[in-house]
Amino acid sequence: MQTFYRGRRLRRTPTIRNMMEEVTLRAADLMMGYIVVETEDRNFRKPIPSLPGMDQLSLDQLELQVEKAVDCGLQSLMLFGVPASKDPVGSGAYAENGIIQQAVRRLKKRWPQLWVVTDVCLCEYTSHGHCGLLAQGDTTGRVLNDPTLELIARTALSHARAGADMVAPSDMMDGRIQAIRAALDGEGYEELPIMSYAVKYASAYYGPFRDAAESCPQFGDRRTYQMDPALVSDGMREAAADISEGADIIMVKPAGPYLDMIVRVSERYDVPVAAYQVSGEYAMIRATAANGWINEEAVIMESLIGIRRAGAKLIMTYFTEELLRKKLVQ
Ligand code: PBG
Ligand code: ZN
Repeated sequence: MQTFYRGRRLRRTPTIRNMMEEVTLRAADLMMGYIVVETEDRNFRKPIPSLPGMDQLSLDQLELQVEKAVDCGLQSLMLFGVPASKDPVGSGAYAENGIIQQAVRRLKKRWPQLWVVTDVCLCEYTSHGHCGLLAQGDTTGRVLNDPTLELIARTALSHARAGADMVAPSDMMDGRIQAIRAALDGEGYEELPIMSYAVKYASAYYGPFRDAAESCPQFGDRRTYQMDPALVSDGMREAAADISEGADIIMVKPAGPYLDMIVRVSERYDVPVAAYQVSGEYAMIRATAANGWINEEAVIMESLIGIRRAGAKLIMTYFTEELLRKKLVQ
């Protein structure tokens, strides 16, 4: 008589294993990230050493890169900008002809069906590298919350006017979703969704991105606005606040080290959850694989299936292009 569980019965062949799979990863679940640089040079393409396989791209190179990705089935992307010049108030973020605004117009004109998302923040555009405004003469990096809201809303609105399909504020100011929603609705963009980086931790995993986007704070750090990794409840309050202010999608970031937060948010709230597999997570896999210590493709897939299993509907990952190119997702 059988007295124990025989799990192996449903693992015997590839067919039954495939039949049993509950968690999937599709092209429609993935967003690719691109870093676009404002430069006079045509054909500017600069590899980012800490993000192997990722380059800073000029507008024409971005178009070329996206063309290849779309041919492989890319459905959605997020844009990050590096302006030609920075100032204390981050004017480049909300300039009508800023780098992101130009990139959105260009991509949407060529591929109207492509879902183009913009990262809404000031850190790439401010000379001090913080995500908002500082008081005159401040050297501590204490960002002024309420004065920053207007600029964040203005940035989101300028992206909408350029034709963005969705805006994704990553600044972590309090009240930003409300401010953005009001600005968008005020100009007739009631149907433009907001994907909020709501559960965003002050993470050392953002290091390679800050090299890539040239957005490292010049002094101080982001811990007065991004969350402490040791907190759970703060993340739940951020998610609740952003949902009540009108966020359509709630993002957890980073993804892998914060799978528990993906589980909690997706189980507690009836909103789609997105997860951002950040630059450091990407770089760690690339570097380990480059040493021959892991099977790169297998680890990439496992890391993403894990994020989906935790409850993320969407995943922003720099691996998206490669997965499409290698037909690892459809
Ligand atoms: C801008 C922003 C950052 C990332 C996405 N948007 C950097 C930061 O908050 O310092 C990180 C992305 C990554 O590491 O891949 N606020
Ligand atoms: Zn920022």
